[in-house]
Parts: sequence; structure tokens; C-alpha cells
Amino acid sequence: LSIWDKFAHTHLRISNDDNGDIACDSYNKVEEDVAILKQLKVTHYRFSISWSRVLPDGTTNYINEAGLNYYHRLVDALIAANIQPHVTLYHWDLPQALQDIGGWENDTIVTKFRDYADFIFDRLGHKVKFWITINEPYNVAMIGHGYGVGAPGISFRPGTLPYIVGHNLLKAHAEAWHIYNDKYRAKQNGIISITINSEWSEPRNPYKQEDYDAAIRTIQFYIGWFAHPVYNGDYNDIMKTVIRERSLAAGLSESRLPEFTPEEVKRIKGTYDYFGFNYYTTVLTFPVDYKNLQGAGSTVDLTWLDSGSGWLKVTPFGFRRILNFIKEEYGNPPIIITENGISERGTVDLNDTHRSHYYEKYINQALKAYLLDGVDIRGYTAWSLMDNFEWAKGFSERFGFFYVNHSDPNISRVAKKSGKKQNNPKRVGHSDKSQDNNTYN
Ligand SMILES: *[C@@H]1O[C@H](CO)[C@@H](O)[C@H](O)[C@H]1NC(C)=O
Ligand SMILES: *[C@@H]1O[C@H](CO)[C@@H](O)[C@H](O)[C@H]1NC(C)=O
Ligand SMILES: *[C@@H]1O[C@H](CO)[C@@H](O)[C@H](O)[C@H]1NC(C)=O
Ligand SMILES: *[C@@H]1O[C@H](CO)[C@@H](O)[C@H](O)[C@H]1NC(C)=O
Repeated sequence: LSIWDKFAHTHLRISNDDNGDIACDSYNKVEEDVAILKQLKVTHYRFSISWSRVLPDGTTNYINEAGLNYYHRLVDALIAANIQPHVTLYHWDLPQALQDIGGWENDTIVTKFRDYADFIFDRLGHKVKFWITINEPYNVAMIGHGYGVGAPGISFRPGTLPYIVGHNLLKAHAEAWHIYNDKYRAKQNGIISITINSEWSEPRNPYKQEDYDAAIRTIQFYIGWFAHPVYNGDYNDIMKTVIRERSLAAGLSESRLPEFTPEEVKRIKGTYDYFGFNYYTTVLTFPVDYKNLQGAGSTVDLTWLDSGSGWLKVTPFGFRRILNFIKEEYGNPPIIITENGISERGTVDLNDTHRSHYYEKYINQALKAYLLDGVDIRGYTAWSLMDNFEWAKGFSERFGFFYVNHSDPNISRVAKKSGKKQNNPKRVGHSDKSQDNNTYN
């Protein structure tokens, strides 16, 4: 069991009480899925390893060879199709056995994650050349341990527990990077990093200094929380100052944000081979007086186009801006975009023009960042190949180029319009006047 098995089987946690027991059934559809990847002509395919599938109790005391063999079958099929496997070690599904002894709150998780990573590099590293340690640590910390709307579903210490979890996630990432660097890099020759997600934030009123300050706090509490320790060393000063002040004002004797020792700062800094980045949307920020977190609220512009997800508005302009932010703030690292995409919900309509529109506009903004601003973008990955189990939203929000038909006993993949060959490919540099006139462009 993973923590997501348990969470999904808890009544009312997931829309329609969906669960991930079978999900897309990719376990049984390696050939079919590689065939649709070939149809799309992708260069790489990103997927994650389920820690509890290969190490059921989280440790190498017991190895589930059948589970590991699935990843061999998938990786072999991808390589045979000339598609590079991009493999994430942790995409939120902690073995339940480790949650039972404190999960990410217990700092012994750091060596357990290192040992798991070591085991996977040893078994798969001769085939896989692209690794992601942890996907979206922000969401692991906040959704799982702050808001509690993702596994393990803890919400009663929202200003404290996410920072403890984030601290251990950063240390665990660093140990996995170091073991790859020290023990495997020379013979396996791959690259490894963490994937960080963030919204971009703009001041709600650009003429108000306090809204502008709220935007800076928001971004430093989001991308900055995890990127600053890895790329620049230690937590950023804004987080350190704001959390300390608010902790002391609340009568605590120390900051709710844990501190790294100087040795830990050194050990975490530089543990990257590229900047793995997931981007979807932008918010408008303004100050609020909450006791916890960054003291900033957020809203959206009602003219922004919607998606099937409440949190996701179509905001391509923010992509170029946050890519430039990464370039300026973190020393112009090579960036690999590891997720970007849009959902729909409700009635199934395979004519997903909103998806093609989204990708055209976002990729054009990434292209501007690359060509005009000199942002060092090395790769781009869409989310996602097919509709998947979308966490607490179950199967109700759909991000795929392919519709996954759960009414069909065969769980068939059906191409949406965006997943088919287009008759009129747009030229590079194609300019859409209505977008370019947008004040945010
Ligand atoms: C933390 O994990 C260790 C084993 O790794 C265990 O002995 C200990 O009891 C755990 N702590 C808590 C508070 O669960
Ligand atoms: C798909 O949707 C677009 C936009 O709503 C519409 O113009 C087009 O006619 C639709 N195509 C089909 C085949 O229904
Ligand atoms: C899904 O499968 C059902 C049952 O086989 C079928 O009736 C339906 O047309 C399929 N939907 C799509 C969009 O292919
Ligand atoms: C299920 O889908 C696969 C791949 O499209 C196909 O080869 C197979 O015949 C299908 N089986 C049934 C029972 O429809």
C-alpha cells in the first residue's frame, strides 16, 4: 500500500470516491502506450516509479521483483521505440509502512529515500539517463501536510508541519543526488535533479507597492522555498524573516521554519544538473494579515480563460515571466520543463480546441523566453499523455491528449483532437494580435 491507496479508499476524500487501484491500467498496457507515444512523435516519456510497488515496506528488506520488472518492460519498450525514459523517483506515493512511522515528518526518511534511490539506480541506472528525485515538493508539503486535501491528509498543523516536511524533502533530495553523483554518475552518465512547481504571481494592483511586495513574498514562499536551498544555498531571507517574525509574534520561542546547519546548507546547495520546472498558471496577489505562511492572498483576473480545474487559469504570459525569474534568481540554470498542460471536466468532448490553444500560447511564450530573453531551456514535457487519476479530483479532471475510457472494459485510449495529426501546423513565430495586445503579454 502507498499513502495514496489508503487516502483514495477513505470515503469522501476523492471526487466520486474514485480510486487508483487500476487507474489507466498502464501496468498492463506497455505496448499500447508506447504505440501512442510513437504516434505523437515524442522524444521522451516521463513517468514515476511507485516506491511501494518495488519495495513494499519502503526498505530493501523485501524486493518485489515483479513490480520492478514492470519498469524494465516499460523502459525497454521506450528505448526500443527511441523514446528516452525520464524517471521520477517520488511522485507523492509514499509506502504506507513508512507513513506509519511518521512519513516525511520523521527525519529517518532521509536515509530511507537515499537507500531506495540507491537501489533503483543500481537496478535501472544502466538504462535510464534522466532522473527526477522528487516531484513538486511544494505540493507534498502543502497539499499533503498543510491543507490535507492530498495524502496523507494532515491539516491540523498548517503553519508548522509543511516546513518540517519540506526540510526533510530537501535533505532527502540532496542525499539521492549525492549518491548518484558519487556512486553512479561516472559509469551511468545520466543527469539528475529535483522538479519544482510554482505559480507566477503578479500584484493585483501594479500601482500598489504593498501588492507588489505580496507578489514577491508569494513567489519566494513558492518556488523560492525549494529552489533557493538547491540553487543558491539555504532558505531565502524573505521566508526566514517573515516566518521568524510571525512565530515570535505568536509567542513561540523559535521560528516555525527549521534551520539548516552550515554543513547541511553546503550539502544541499548545488544538488542539480538542470532546473526541473512545472508551470500551469498565474495569480494576482495582495497583502492579508494571516498568522501563518506568507501573509498574501491571491485572486485571478476574471477575463482569463478557465480550464477544468479551479486553480488553473490560462495565463501564458506568466510562463515567460517565471522562466525569466528562474534565469535571474538562480544563475541561469539549464531548464527542463517537466510539466505544462490543461484540463477539462464534465461531458466528454474529444474536440479539445482549448488544449491546442493552451499549448500554442504557452509554448510560444517559452520560445520568446528562449529566443528573445536568453533563458536556457533544454526540454519541454506536456502534462499529459492521457487522462489520469488526478489526485483528489479522481477521474473528473482530464489533462490528456488521449481520453481514457473507463466505461470500456478494455480501458481504451481514444485520441482527442489535440492528440491527432493537425492539418495546418502553425509556423514558429506566428503572432496572434489579440494575445499580443493583452497587457500581460
Ligand atoms: C521514526 O522512524 C524510526 C525508524 O526509522 C522509528 O524507530 C521511530 O519510532 C520513528 N519516529 C516516530 C515518531 O514515529
Ligand atoms: C471543434 O470545436 C471548434 C471550436 O469550438 C469548432 O470551431 C469546430 O467546428 C469543432 N470541430 C468539430 C469537428 O466539431
Ligand atoms: C467508451 O466506451 C463505451 C463502452 O465500450 C462506448 O460506448 C463509448 O462510445 C466509448 N466512448 C468513447 C468516447 O470512445
Ligand atoms: C483492447 O485494446 C487493445 C489495444 O487497442 C486491442 O488490441 C484489443 O483487441 C482490445 N481488446 C478488446 C477486447 O477490445
